[in-house]
Amino acid sequence: MTDYFADRAAEWDKPAKIEMADNFVQALLKHIEPQPHWKALEIGAGTGLVGLQLLPRVRSIVFEDTSEEMLKVLRSKIDDNAPVEILHGEISKYRSADIDFVFSNMAFHHIEDIPKTLEHLFAVTTPGAKIAIGDIRSEDGSFHRFDPVPHKGFDTDELSAQFEKAGFRVLHVETYNVLRQEKIPGKLSDYEQFILIAEKPSI
Ligand SMILES: C[S@@+](CC[C@H](N)C(=O)[O-])C[C@H]1O[C@@H](n2cnc3c(N)ncnc32)[C@H](O)[C@@H]1O
Repeated sequence: MTDYFADRAAEWDKPAKIEMADNFVQALLKHIEPQPHWKALEIGAGTGLVGLQLLPRVRSIVFEDTSEEMLKVLRSKIDDNAPVEILHGEISKYRSADIDFVFSNMAFHHIEDIPKTLEHLFAVTTPGAKIAIGDIRSEDGSFHRFDPVPHKGFDTDELSAQFEKAGFRVLHVETYNVLRQEKIPGKLSDYEQFILIAEKPSI
């Protein structure tokens, strides 16, 4: 598996990335109140910029990521007795059906098969589980001009339909931030960041 983040891991925690993570956490907390008994799962956790902010609010977090180098940085920030599990690899490696809360920031556009991932999330979550996914809306491909990514952002209607097909109920979708970046020299582009909130119906 190619780790496109290996060279970037040591330098990841820069102000712009920290601000991006903070914005996502703020948007998430407007819609979800994490509970102290919840077991959470973060997909594409990276260096933990999002998950480490939420850790004090929940019972434990499984931090999953395909980049060992990103996870190395995360490990360096965690105490030995912290209530965390670190999972290196694809989310399909997680097999217990005990997750009450799933969140992910800017990782979904790196995941090849979204319907299969959502099916798997449905299998590993508890009834009533909450989901919060943050990513960018459909863009022209300039956001990742030099890296191969499976998705040029997302059409949130299509993504919502995929969540519903997997069995989740979509509760809310909104644009919570616009990233203005010069990905093409001399051209500023706006990339809308959305958050999608869903839940697994209670039985
Ligand atoms: C843009 S970074 C975001 C990191 C972190 N969520 C944050 O907000 O700082 C995307 C992360 O997704 C991870 N990733 C890429 N493909 C993945 C996959 N198929 N499953 C899980 N994580 C993946 C990358 O290794 C990287 O750490």
